Amino acid sequence: MHTTPAETIELATPARAHDRLGRPMHDLRISVMDRCNFRCPYCMPKETFHDRYRFLHTAERLSFEEIARIARLAVALGVRKLRLTGGEPLLRTGLADLVGELSTIVGIEDLALTTNGVLLAQHAAELKANGLRRITVSLDSLDEQIFARMSGGFGGLAQVLDGIGAALAAGLQPVKINTVVQRGVNDHAVLPLLERFRGTGVTVRFIEYMDVGNRNQWQAQQVVPSAELLERVQARWSVTPVPGQYRGEVAERYVYDDGAGEIGFVSSVTAPFCGDCHRARLSSEGVLYTCLFATRGTDLRTPLREGASDEELRSLLRTAWLQRDDRYSELRQELRAQQQPPLHKIEMHYIGG
Ligand SMILES: C[S@@+](CC[C@H](N)C(=O)[O-])C[C@H]1O[C@@H](n2cnc3c(N)ncnc32)[C@H](O)[C@@H]1O
Ligand code: SF4
Repeated sequence: MHTTPAETIELATPARAHDRLGRPMHDLRISVMDRCNFRCPYCMPKETFHDRYRFLHTAERLSFEEIARIARLAVALGVRKLRLTGGEPLLRTGLADLVGELSTIVGIEDLALTTNGVLLAQHAAELKANGLRRITVSLDSLDEQIFARMSGGFGGLAQVLDGIGAALAAGLQPVKINTVVQRGVNDHAVLPLLERFRGTGVTVRFIEYMDVGNRNQWQAQQVVPSAELLERVQARWSVTPVPGQYRGEVAERYVYDDGAGEIGFVSSVTAPFCGDCHRARLSSEGVLYTCLFATRGTDLRTPLREGASDEELRSLLRTAWLQRDDRYSELRQELRAQQQPPLHKIEMHYIGG
């Protein structure tokens, strides 16, 4: 993306925000939709997120114009990467229009999307044409029964695989797969995922099951440590670790020694990376959060709709980041032991994964 001289000056000014632990604001994750067409028990268990659950009304969600305005303001504070997520972002009508809008923001170097993939086949080409760079598709198993269990009883495995194919055909690069691993649920069935995508250019990343929100009944023994998974991988294939490429990279990466591609491990439970976390999160109703495990955030929608100036909004963003000292994953054990009643954390479908 090109920059005009005036914009270059604006971007170069020493306005970049650093939090109390010296971490820059670099990524903004935007939840565009709190609803989802799945009910993964680890994220939106259907006992809670049932037919009568009160999701946001359309007018309560930020409009595309409001999202784009916040993204532009965040660039001045240091944000260079945007990721659209949810809930299921492809349930948001016209999402490709938002991608088009965000892709023109000067200073944004990376624009990505995380999706469950069910609706991806029909949208991949348009998303790419409108400026989406890369995509992450969540897929927990190739086994129909395990897939159904981990998506809350929904089918859709064939559509997800079609969606991954469509993303590759559209030229989205790279295509990654996120696999949440839960002991006793899918951990015995993750190697087939690697087998399937070896040599296709698709990177599978194993995600340790996390205690996001308050509804998934998380228990530490359900977490399969990445080290354990790596051992299982090494028993089958020869792999070599890849040194981190940039500060804040969350996945530990390995390459197959036979050149068949890459595998990632995201170990936020057994090897927390809070020290390098530079992500801000914007919920679908316009609340800014500074941690996935936050209990409160900064309302931006009210000032947006009451006519706040860019300077006022930027100041709200900056203040939220300057005050940030979150490092939940590093403190998980202490915080969970201390909190009676438990912390009321924001739910993942709402804040965006
Ligand atoms: C909340 S989802 C939103 C986007 C989209 N619906 C999807 O599933 O890709 C984003 C990511 O968070 C992951 N996720 C959700 N709950 C999780 C949990 N409890 N532990 C680890 N990852 C989780 C999902 O597997 C997914 O890869
Ligand atoms: S992980 Fe994604 S697909 Fe599953 S319930 Fe959560 S938002 Fe929906």
